[in-house]
Amino acid sequence: MHPLPGYWSCYRLLLLFSLGVQGSLGAPSAAPEQVHLSYPGEPGSMTVTWTTWVPTRSEVQFGLQPSGPLPLRAQGTFVPFVDGGILRRKLYIHRVTLRKLLPGVQYVYRCGSAQGWSRRFRFRALKNGAHWSPRLAVFGDLGADNPKALPRLRRDTQQGMYDAVLHVGDFAYNLDQDNARVGDRFMRLIEPVAASLPYMTCPGNHEERYNFSNYKARFSMPGDNEGLWYSWDLGPAHIISFSTEVYFFLHYGRHLVQRQFRWLESDLQKANKNRAARPWIITMGHRPMYCSNADLDDCTRHESKVRKGLQGKLYGLEDLFYKYGVDLQLWAHEHSYERLWPIYNYQVFNGSREMPYTNPRGPVHIITGSAGCEERLTPFAVFPRPWSAVRVKEYGYTRLHMLNGTHIHIQQVSDDQDGKIVDDVWVVRPLFGRRMYL
Ligand SMILES: [Fe+2]
Repeated sequence: MHPLPGYWSCYRLLLLFSLGVQGSLGAPSAAPEQVHLSYPGEPGSMTVTWTTWVPTRSEVQFGLQPSGPLPLRAQGTFVPFVDGGILRRKLYIHRVTLRKLLPGVQYVYRCGSAQGWSRRFRFRALKNGAHWSPRLAVFGDLGADNPKALPRLRRDTQQGMYDAVLHVGDFAYNLDQDNARVGDRFMRLIEPVAASLPYMTCPGNHEERYNFSNYKARFSMPGDNEGLWYSWDLGPAHIISFSTEVYFFLHYGRHLVQRQFRWLESDLQKANKNRAARPWIITMGHRPMYCSNADLDDCTRHESKVRKGLQGKLYGLEDLFYKYGVDLQLWAHEHSYERLWPIYNYQVFNGSREMPYTNPRGPVHIITGSAGCEERLTPFAVFPRPWSAVRVKEYGYTRLHMLNGTHIHIQQVSDDQDGKIVDDVWVVRPLFGRRMYL
């Protein structure tokens, strides 16, 4: 049934009005907002992504001096993104990649166009090669409401504590919520961190709406897969980001499970050919294979989908990651922190009784989903499992320091305890023979 013409034009006016009210003066704004960085995978580069409410040119001006003119210029493109909500709000997402950056050097930049510029931000170009010691902040499940870890992450970032961020799925709660206004609010909230550090992501279940379209549109990850899966090298590590969600939202394409699995296998093969240069293989995916939380999530099931695959046998990831000697698996989804003993198929494979994480004979799993969101924390099952080493039901996030090709330092920061380190462990593996755990 069609509404009467009068109603229709009223509705249209309302719609136009609500679409238009973005800037503080009520006019659609050409000023950049939601500025964030990501590493596109080629050494010496960095991508700047931002949003405007009208189409404008996409330019980044940058330089080495903290004040004064910014002598360098890079141009990019924008794409309109229409949210799937009833208002069909339209954002213009701009992307500009800076190239030939000097490794380890700090740059100042602003983005926008003659119609409006962002404020100035600073970032340090990633160093090249394997022989340096990257520091990462790692967490998942950070919402626009109750983002507990964010103030400390901002301070850490200002102090130059990290080289990059890994956000292991579940953003904003949700990016699409309230006609994607919650997504806008979230992207503004993380700007003080994400405009200064490459903010590397993988999708979680909260990004599912409209086929992950807000996630795909708002982030700019390496590769040609809209950020659903990709890999990149950082210092002594090869980092693989993938979507656990392909196993759960099959209506978006069952073939994605197979496509991703095949990509993972070929990427792991390549990573192993290059293992002497980049010894660590680290994965990040949202839903864990194992967890000891008191809920009914996939990871609490003995044959979790992520671990064993569809119908308990198709495209399970535990065998694949074990076969290719993955060192460290980063997960989130459970709103807590849990570190497992080195594990394969429910068996604990500690290096030794005294030093369980020195020469472990199975991958190490870290579940870090307690950065803070409106759903608050997830309780643990009363009795810990024999494969669970440490459990922390407190807000916080993980610091990961890759010292070199043999030593990784992992610390869990508690926001409930004002930044106290509540878990601290070194993972040590020999330089050679990394592929085989046997
Ligand atoms: Fe989740």
